[in-house]
Amino acid sequence: MFTGEIDAYILSHIDEEGDLLSALNRDANVNLLRPRMLSGHLQGRILKMFCRMIRPRRVLEIGTYTSYATLCMAEGMEEGALIHTIEINDEMEDFIMKYLSRSLHKDKIKVHFGDAMEIIPRLDETFDMVFIDADKRLYSEYYDLVFPMVRPGGLILADNTLWDGKVVEEVHPSDKQSSSICRRTKRGRTGNKDLRRSRCRF
Ligand SMILES: C[S@@+](CC[C@H](N)C(=O)[O-])C[C@H]1O[C@@H](n2cnc3c(N)ncnc32)[C@H](O)[C@@H]1O
Repeated sequence: MFTGEIDAYILSHIDEEGDLLSALNRDANVNLLRPRMLSGHLQGRILKMFCRMIRPRRVLEIGTYTSYATLCMAEGMEEGALIHTIEINDEMEDFIMKYLSRSLHKDKIKVHFGDAMEIIPRLDETFDMVFIDADKRLYSEYYDLVFPMVRPGGLILADNTLWDGKVVEEVHPSDKQSSSICRRTKRGRTGNKDLRRSRCRF
């Protein structure tokens, strides 16, 4: 979406990501498959900004991957606040713990390993903010599952909703990820009752 120059301009005018996140980012790019999945500097600062703005006591992240976004959100949260983050791939555990253990904000983070669809119903929490960033084929299901757990006025943020522009293209029936994202968007446009009263639409 951004040209390289605008991207560079934005990155030079926002807060630095800091040594820990910078090391994590580099480690992911050198050692992990699909490092592009990590939120990155700009999106990480935006997530932190949301936390500073709404001062959530409870946050849910669906899809931890490296914990880059988790650490950014925790930075913006106050002492005593908690972020639950869920990751299905337990092979990420060593990587995640390596960086969480070095973070000043580690006490604000609880990592759950397993399928978010199974773990979320077991969380006895009301969330001020939810960040959906896991399996695109299940976006609608995550949304429906978390909706009743978000307080009025809370935020539900979802990554990749424009899906590299595919949302305005004809979706091939075999493309389950794009179909799921578009299904939710269409339900929003056709006036789904829950979405009309929703805290935040995507
Ligand atoms: C795009 S990455 C998350 C990036 C991270 N939120 C960030 O911003 O840096 C998506 C992650 O979701 C995980 N995932 C996929 N399906 C999941 C599920 N059903 N439950 C929990 N995690 C899942 C994947 O293993 C992957 O690590």
